[in-house]
Amino acid sequence: MDYRRFFETAVTRLQEERRYRVFAHLERCVETFPQAVWHRDDGSTRDVTIWCSNDYLGMGQHPDVIAAMVETASRVGAGSGGTRNISGTSHAIVELESELADLHGKEAALVFTSGWISNLAAISTIADLLPDCVILSDASNHNSMIEGVKRSRAERKIFRHNDLAHLEELLIEAGARPKLIVFESLYSMNGNIAPVAEIAALAERYGAMTYIDEVHAVGMYGARGGGICEREGVMHRIDVIEGTLAKGFGTLGGYVAGDRVVIDAIRSYAASFIFTTALPPAVAAAATAAVRLLKARSDLRAAHQRASHITKHALAAAGLPVLENGSHIVPVMVRDAELCKAASDMLLERHDIYIQPINYPTVARGSERLRITPTPRHTPEHIVALVESVADVWHTLGIPFVEPPQHLHIDAESRERCTYPEIKLAAQ
Ligand SMILES: Cc1ncc(COP(=O)(O)O)c(C=O)c1O
Repeated sequence: MDYRRFFETAVTRLQEERRYRVFAHLERCVETFPQAVWHRDDGSTRDVTIWCSNDYLGMGQHPDVIAAMVETASRVGAGSGGTRNISGTSHAIVELESELADLHGKEAALVFTSGWISNLAAISTIADLLPDCVILSDASNHNSMIEGVKRSRAERKIFRHNDLAHLEELLIEAGARPKLIVFESLYSMNGNIAPVAEIAALAERYGAMTYIDEVHAVGMYGARGGGICEREGVMHRIDVIEGTLAKGFGTLGGYVAGDRVVIDAIRSYAASFIFTTALPPAVAAAATAAVRLLKARSDLRAAHQRASHITKHALAAAGLPVLENGSHIVPVMVRDAELCKAASDMLLERHDIYIQPINYPTVARGSERLRITPTPRHTPEHIVALVESVADVWHTLGIPFVEPPQHLHIDAESRERCTYPEIKLAAQ
C-alpha cells in the first residue's frame, strides 16, 4: 500500500482550496519587540515588525517575567518530571493557582498545559458530571470549546452568536434539566464582546451553570486584569472562568477558576489533565510573575487600549475597511482568500511588516481578513508605517477602500486616551 499518497492528496487538497498554512520563520527580540528577525528561505534574514502577536501586552518580553523563568529554571531545573500524580505538584504551580483564584475572586483554580486543553478538559468533564445535561454553546465559540462540547456525552444546542433571545428560547426548551452555558467574553476574530451580565442574568433566571472563556481578555480588561467579567462586575455570577497564560500573560498554559468542589471534580476526572506532564515550574513561575505584575499595572492596560484605538482610527481614516468593535482587536477586511494571502506576503516582502492572513476555516469564506493586534510597545512611528504600508498594498492589489473613509465612533474615554499628536484621529 502506498501510504504516502493519502497524505500527499490531503495536503494537495488544502493547497487547492487555498487553505494550506505557511508559517513565517521568525525570531522575536526581547530588547526591540515588536521587532523580530525574519529568516527567509534563501538563508538571509531581515528585521521586521510584528503586528499580529497574541502576546498582547509584551509580557513574554518583560524583564520580571523572564527573570522569574530563568531564576526558577536555574534552581529547580527545566522540566516538571511528569504528571502531577507521579511527580507531585510543583511549588510554582501551587503559587500560580492561588494567584489565579485570587485574580478571579474564586475559591480555587487549576492549571493545564494550554488554554486549548483547559477548555477540552473542563467543559467535557463538567457536562459529563451533570446528569442529563444540555450544553448551550455560542455559535462562534473557539475550536477548543467545540472540542470540549463534542467530547462530552451531553446533548448540545448552539445559540446564535451573542443572541440573548435565542439563548433564552433554548433555556426554556431545556426545562428542568441541568444546563451549561458555554461562551466567550471576547471573540478574537471580530473583536466583539459578549453581553456577559445579561447572560449571567439568564443563567440565574433559568437555573443554568455558566462557563466563560476569557482567553483574549485576561490581563487586559478589569481593574486587576481579571477580564471582561471583572470589568463588568460579574465574576461572582459566572461559575467557571477559563483563561490562558499564553496571551495577555505572555507565557504558556491555561486554567479554570471556580468553586473548590467544581475545580476538584475537574482535577479528579479530566483525562487530559490527569495523564499529561505538568507545566515546567519555570513556566509557572514566569506566568505568576506576569499575573502579579498585571494586577497592579493598569497603566499597561491603558497603553494597550491607546495603541489599539489609535491604530484602528488611523487605518479607518485612511479608508481601510476596519471592522468596528469595542475591543483591542483590529480586523481589516479583505474578503478574499487569495488577496488576503497576497496582502500578507506583500506586507512582509515590501514593507517588513508581519501580519498573518486569516482565512477559512478560522473565519467564514468571504470574510478573510488581516487581524492586527497593537501592543503597548508599538509606537506612533510603527503605526504611521503600518497605515502607509497597508494602504500601499491595498492600492497595489486593487483591494477596495471604504469611500468615504469610516469615522469610527470614539467614546469620550477612548478619545481622552488617544493622546499621540502624530496621528490624526478620524473622529476629530
Ligand atoms: C478563544 C480561545 N480559547 C482558547 C484558546 C487556546 O488557548 P491556548 O493558546 O492557550 O491553547 C484560544 C487560542 O487562540 C482561543 O482563541
